[in-house]
Formats: sequence, C-alpha cells, structure tokens
Amino acid sequence: MNSYLFIGFFITLLYTYNEATLKTSDVRNYLGTRTPYRFRGNKNDSRIKFPHCKDSKIWMIIRHGTRLPRDTDIIKMNTTLKDLKYEILLNNKLGNGELTDEQIKNFEQWSTDINLEHERFLTLEGQDEMILLAERMQNRFPGAIKRKYNNATFLFRYTATQRAQQSARYFANGLFDKKDSQDVIFSPATKVDTVLRFYQHCDKWQKQVKKNPNTYTEQILFGVSDEMNKTLERVSNRLGLSSVLSLDKVILMYKTCGYETSWSKHLASPWCSVFDRASAEVLEYYHDLKHYWLDGYGHDLTYRQACVSINNMLEMFSNKEGPNATFLFAHSGTVLKILTHLGLFKPKDHLRGNAVMKERPWRTSHIDCFAANLAFVLYRCKDGDHVLTLHQERVIKLPMCGKELCPLKELRKKFKDTIYNCNFTDMCSLVRDEL
Ligand SMILES: *[C@@H]1O[C@H](CO)[C@@H](O)[C@H](O)[C@H]1NC(C)=O
Ligand SMILES: *[C@@H]1O[C@H](CO)[C@@H](O)[C@H](O)[C@H]1NC(C)=O
Ligand SMILES: *[C@@H]1O[C@H](CO)[C@@H](O)[C@H](O)[C@H]1NC(C)=O
Ligand SMILES: *[C@@H]1O[C@H](CO)[C@@H](O)[C@H](O)[C@H]1NC(C)=O
Ligand SMILES: *[C@@H]1O[C@H](CO)[C@@H](O)[C@H](O)[C@H]1NC(C)=O
Ligand SMILES: *[C@@H]1O[C@H](CO)[C@@H](O)[C@H](O)[C@H]1NC(C)=O
Repeated sequence: MNSYLFIGFFITLLYTYNEATLKTSDVRNYLGTRTPYRFRGNKNDSRIKFPHCKDSKIWMIIRHGTRLPRDTDIIKMNTTLKDLKYEILLNNKLGNGELTDEQIKNFEQWSTDINLEHERFLTLEGQDEMILLAERMQNRFPGAIKRKYNNATFLFRYTATQRAQQSARYFANGLFDKKDSQDVIFSPATKVDTVLRFYQHCDKWQKQVKKNPNTYTEQILFGVSDEMNKTLERVSNRLGLSSVLSLDKVILMYKTCGYETSWSKHLASPWCSVFDRASAEVLEYYHDLKHYWLDGYGHDLTYRQACVSINNMLEMFSNKEGPNATFLFAHSGTVLKILTHLGLFKPKDHLRGNAVMKERPWRTSHIDCFAANLAFVLYRCKDGDHVLTLHQERVIKLPMCGKELCPLKELRKKFKDTIYNCNFTDMCSLVRDEL
C-alpha cells in the first residue's frame, strides 16, 4: 500500500476539528473543485417515501472521488512548493510574517512525495466517498437500489480513466456484499463516449468554446485585477516574504491546500494557513470564472450538448424493463454541463472578472466538489410516474417543474427541446467555413 495515497505529508499534530460544521470563516469552505465530498454530502440517509408511491428506478451521474494531482502539479509541489517552504521558514526565523508557532511547526513537518505514475489516481478518501455515498443512496431508495446484485437491472459505466473506473468499483462495493460485488459487470469503457464525455467529441464546442481564447477572458482579467494583486500581497505579507508572490505560486498553494484537505480527514495542510477567508474567496472566484465560461452558462452549445445525458435518463425511465439502477462515473466537465442544461445554480448575470460576484449560486465549492453528483429517482405512484431529483443527496426542485416530485409526463413536456432537438452530429459538426 502506498502510504501517500493515504497521507501526502507528515504531521504529528492531529487536528480534531468538527468538519461537519465548518465556520464560514474557515478557508476550507472555498476550495472550489478540490473540496472533499464529506463537507457537502447529506448524511441523513432515512428512506425517502411518498404516499401511494414506490421508488422503482434511479439514474445517477457522479464525478469521480478525491484524486491525486495531475503530473504537472505533482512536479510543482515537489519543486516550487518545497523551495517556498524553506523560504517561509527562513523568513519566520528572521521574525517576519504572521504565522503562529503551530502553523510554522506544521510547515516544518510538511513534505510531499507522489509517484508521477499515479497522477490523478483515486485516493483512499475517494474510495471512502464512494462507499459511503452508495450506502446512503441504497438506504434512501431500497426499492430502486436492491441489495442483491442483478446483471439485468444494474448498470455501471465509467469513462476510460483510472479515477472513474475505481470510483465505480468502490461504489459497487458500497452497495453489495463481497461476493456479489465481485460479480458486478461494468460496461466496457470506450475512448469515444458520447454519454459520459460528450464534449470531448463535440468538434464545434472544442473549437468555439474550449480552444477559444475568449472563453478565458474574464478569468484572465480577474487575474490582473487590483483585488487579485492585493490578495497576492496579503498572502506574501502573511508569510513574511520580501517580494510579492506570483499568481502561479499562490494558485499552487491554493490547489495544494485543497488536495491535502481532501486527502485526509485528520491532518491539516499547512498550505491552508497561507490564506485568510477573503483571499481564499478570491482564489475560489478566479477558478469559478473559468468553469463558468467553460462548463456553464457562458455559451449555449456548452450545455445544449448535455441533452444526450438527459435523454439517456428519460429513455431509461420510459422503458418498462431494466436497467433499473444506472450509475455513471464521469468528470467535473460532465456534471457541470448537465446541471447547466437543467437551469440549476444560474446566477442573475454572467460572472465577470472586474469584481467578485459575492452571492452567486454558481460556486464550484458547492456544485463541483469531488464526488459531486446528481440523481433522478423514478417513483411509480397511484396517479402515474413521478421523478424526484437530488443534488449532493438533497432533494431539489428542478426550475422547469417547481415541485419536488415531478410528474414524468410533465417533465417530458418541459424537456421537449432536449428530446427532439438533440442531434449530436448536427449540433457538433463544424460546417465547412468554420473548419
Ligand atoms: C432525515 O430525512 C427524513 C426524510 O427526508 C426526514 O423526515 C427527517 O426529518 C430527517 N432527519 C433529520 C434529523 O433531519
Ligand atoms: C521529488 O524530488 C526528489 C528530490 O528532490 C526526487 O528524488 C523525486 O524523484 C522527485 N519526485 C518527483 C515525482 O518528481
Ligand atoms: C447474468 O446473470 C444470470 C443469472 O444470474 C447469469 O445466468 C448470466 O450468465 C449473467 N450474465 C452475464 C453476462 O454474466
Ligand atoms: C496587477 O499586477 C499586474 C502584474 O504585476 C499588473 O500587470 C497589473 O496592472 C496590476 N493590476 C492593477 C489593477 O494594478
Ligand atoms: C425493474 O423494474 C421493472 C419495471 O419497473 C420491474 O418490473 C422489475 O421488478 C424491477 N426489477 C428489479 C430486480 O427490481
Ligand atoms: C442527424 O443529422 C444528420 C445531418 O443533418 C442526419 O444525417 C442524421 O440522420 C440525423 N440523425 C438523426 C438520429 O436524426
């Protein structure tokens, strides 16, 4: 067992904080896409019942659990961050900076050593996230998610990545006993997967959004704003450094704070003590800007293409036969585009780089944490089929329905455009003069 998959750093100080109730001032509320699921999921797993109804089917899309950094970040942590650590300690010895003795001690004991071959692998915490999520979902919906595995009624599917594959594996371990979970059949992962990673195969989106420099304009603008410059200064002063840190370095510290917080329930990352609430919120917004314009409401093709996933769900609910429980393991880019297609977490205006939009429903710390998920549950009721929607395991109302338990017929009407206007080839082909 590779110990760093468990702990990426060595600390003797054990922090026994109550994570379930983070104070608003806690920087760990603002970790963006590196927020661990244990801060977000709903732990109340009582059965969800409605009179004269029975939960019969479920369709769920899940971002993979907590993972290791990508290769470039592993290297930067091993070089840039290690250098910074010594600079911080040296300056502290000279009497500079605002860190407490405890925070300095935490830095002294920090180290990192992640094998490059394990870049973006699911971590032990990621395994836990999946097992616990599966157990709670099964407790809520015992009709739709049977305890006994059946290859005709369960469908598991993941993208061709270690983190999604392992997420599916551990989720299945959470649902079934040992013998059954070994028999689980996973749909073969394909390089081209238009349900789980539609955007990778949408040429028009790749050209008009992903590779279009305009997509990143607002983020870049915010990166050189007065507010960002002041943040860089504040962080540098806090650490007692003689010169102002670059944005790149502060981003690296922010990411590491997120990763290390996610990897361990018990250890506190020294890189979190670099930030106060205000500076963490600025870094959070900087990253939210990117995801908003890349995966959210910035461009309509971005979320229009998610019709393929929604249709996958509607087809399953309309089918009299199995599968009855579909679990899809994918990525941040998939989940965000689906949420946007549904009109969820839409801010009043576009997010802009000239100022932080403080009160915004579009917040990756909440909607795009590790293991972020969305579930639709089909209830068969005396008065017809209904659909319940859950986000991060909490019942939500879809903007197009306004009721928690939405009649399937009504939903199909509201999704008319999604159902009948979803020709992926048409939507995603570049016409000749766009090539
Ligand atoms: C847990 O959820 C159930 C069903 O949704 C609800 O009735 C109950 O009040 C909740 N319990 C707590 C402690 O919130
Ligand atoms: C990290 O740095 C150490 C020495 O500084 C080196 O031995 C090790 O291979 C590096 N690891 C990675 C993943 O670059
Ligand atoms: C599915 O399960 C049935 C009965 O449990 C079994 O006979 C069949 O071989 C299984 N199918 C596959 C593809 O494993
Ligand atoms: C912030 O700093 C950058 C880099 O030093 C600089 O180019 C930019 O003009 C500064 N922004 C403001 C608003 O002063
Ligand atoms: C699957 O769903 C169908 C249709 O609702 C139902 O008839 C069947 O009993 C279900 N199978 C299982 C194993 O739950
Ligand atoms: C989608 O559009 C293409 C090109 O317009 C057409 O050839 C194809 O038949 C359509 N597919 C479906 C399923 O309607």
